[in-house]
Amino acid sequence: MKFARSVSVMTLAVAMMGVFSSGAMAQDVAPAVDVSQSTQGVAKYQTVGSADSPDKVLHVDVMLTGDGNLAYQVLRNGQPVIEPSRLGFILANAPKLDRYFVFDKSAVSSHDETWDLPWGERSHVRNHYNELRVDVAQPTWDNRKMAVVFRIYDDGVGFRYEFPDQAPLEKVEIMDELTEFAVADPATAWWAVAGEWNREEYVYKETPLKEVSEAQSPMTLKTDKGIYISFHEAALVDYAGYWLRRVDGQRLKTRLAPSALGAPVVREAPFTTPWRTMQITDSAAALYNGSDLILNLNEPNKLGDVSWVKPYKYVGIWWGMHLNTWTWEAGPRHGATTEHTKAYMDFAAQNGFRGVLVEGWNKGWEDWFGKGFNFSFTQSYPDFDLADISAYGLKKGVHLIGHHETSGNVANYEPQMADGFALYEKYKVDSVKTGYVVDAGGARVKGPDGSIRYAWNDSQEMVRHFELTVTEAAKHHIAIDTHEPIKDTGLRRTYPNWVSREGQRGMEYNAWGDPQNPPEHEANLIFTRMLTGPMDFTPGILSLQGQGKPIPSTQAKQLALYVVLYSPIQMAADLPENYAKYPKPFQFIKDVPVDWEQTVMLNGEIGDFATIARKDKASDNWYVGAVTDEQARDVAVPLGFLEPGRSYTAQIYRDGPNAGMEGDARFDIVIESKTVTAADTLKIRLAPGGGMAIRLVAGKKAK
Ligand code: NOJ
Ligand code: CA
Repeated sequence: MKFARSVSVMTLAVAMMGVFSSGAMAQDVAPAVDVSQSTQGVAKYQTVGSADSPDKVLHVDVMLTGDGNLAYQVLRNGQPVIEPSRLGFILANAPKLDRYFVFDKSAVSSHDETWDLPWGERSHVRNHYNELRVDVAQPTWDNRKMAVVFRIYDDGVGFRYEFPDQAPLEKVEIMDELTEFAVADPATAWWAVAGEWNREEYVYKETPLKEVSEAQSPMTLKTDKGIYISFHEAALVDYAGYWLRRVDGQRLKTRLAPSALGAPVVREAPFTTPWRTMQITDSAAALYNGSDLILNLNEPNKLGDVSWVKPYKYVGIWWGMHLNTWTWEAGPRHGATTEHTKAYMDFAAQNGFRGVLVEGWNKGWEDWFGKGFNFSFTQSYPDFDLADISAYGLKKGVHLIGHHETSGNVANYEPQMADGFALYEKYKVDSVKTGYVVDAGGARVKGPDGSIRYAWNDSQEMVRHFELTVTEAAKHHIAIDTHEPIKDTGLRRTYPNWVSREGQRGMEYNAWGDPQNPPEHEANLIFTRMLTGPMDFTPGILSLQGQGKPIPSTQAKQLALYVVLYSPIQMAADLPENYAKYPKPFQFIKDVPVDWEQTVMLNGEIGDFATIARKDKASDNWYVGAVTDEQARDVAVPLGFLEPGRSYTAQIYRDGPNAGMEGDARFDIVIESKTVTAADTLKIRLAPGGGMAIRLVAGKKAK
């Protein structure tokens, strides 16, 4: 421990000098073999392994009950946050893995490393944790073995199960995972219902934790003592996604998404489960600014050189279909024509956008919704000339973005997928948006015997499919943006070509949603969905008008979304003719970058508001965005993140004095410039449904 600790301090000092080291430091510590009574007031449990986070903020105990049930608890600064909660599995092909465990061994080790992201919210990520490993066995059942491994950070915990290679349990058919999270204190939960027909796309609810039924992860809580907790998972690979079912009181339990093929998870040992994660902090901002728990728990980049993965902004033949003025299918109102695409490419080139997305270019859209039987991924409609369009764009430095809508019909898509990517590669298309529009439980997959089965989007079979799309695309140097995806569990670290995804309600709900996205939606997203990774939200509707429905937002808030909702690919989602009407606010969309050196949330509360500052990777400029819900509020923007002594020009886009989320008030925007330094704090008023965006252009360096 002594050695590991002095290394951590060294690494921190080096990091502060701006030089980043990499390489894990690990050291095994004598196992805690002593099986003693817990001192935490839960005498019926025996602690068989314990460890603290590096700065001793969080503490984890792993325990056995008298019956040999495995459990764990989490304390923060000595106070229980997660009370003793059970661990284990129900199997379909063997007795349960829960009772009759005996302690085998445990070990604690310390780790501290810093690694680089090819693109992201920041350039460097520190991975600093203590690991606690506990091995148990079941003498009653042929001495079957299992281990549980905890990684304890100062602001969160991840743990996973390990199934070692062993004769008594080779094939593992998991019927149910018994992992529990028993929240110690009464809490408020921000959550979206799980396992229902509209997949991940439900409006968030804010209720007492005691009123949660079954929630998607991530679910975020604030306890009555002011502790923030977000439950999720990391590195979801070849396993089913979990939902959080409230058992009773404040006790939550994982429920694995069902499988169309049998048990929700079928694996051969040895294997590990995904990490079960809890971010635990004492402020909402700390939850957002945290230790990159989810990314850190994923495997490093497996793709090698990923310089072909480019962050960019894009426009697309898209909003026109959501407004129902254009159609995806060919016909008199067809959006994806050669002529329209070239016009969009001209617009992209004029405004500095790298990409043009085109949906509805391929055959099969006549009766697609939830069906997708006729989709071809290689044949264009006759009025869309792929070769001509791609060449036209490339001459202007504009790249066509491909589109593979599948309607969840994976059985129709998978056999065509490689050809579809190869076709795009031939025409130098280096990103593809995929889509799975089908009700939950309706994805159509082929079983091992060749028969057609209907699957949940978060089932093991679909988790495998989503990974296959990304690895297959990588062979063709194509980046993937998945819509109606599996939840994000940080696999962008392992596969940096998985650049973005949807996975909650995006802007499209403001075109046709019933209901539309409520004004608090983005302030909910930031502390839930956005904790998991980039979202292709498709912001920037400056016209603020859906299909007969005004959008309850101000123009300034539309600009703020480019900063507060992170994605390395961001759409300027409105129609070019609408941007022509609003050239002044549009300037911010042209200026804002998509790849960041640093990110810091300055202030925020779940579902209420958030102010986020990010530093451009390619310049010394900073950008700030803030959004609010239906309440007006004054936000403080302390500029202490700027370089001391240097002056910056702040280009401010804020809600005007009469701004609001209805009628003409939505268009009341003030655009002004000020000279500022790190010593200043800006105070900016956000209107109901409003927001603000600031571009801070660096002046000459201080002497
Ligand atoms: C749903 C996606 O979220 C949306 O962006 C797309 O336009 C449609 N599916 C059609 O693929
Ligand atoms: Ca969608």
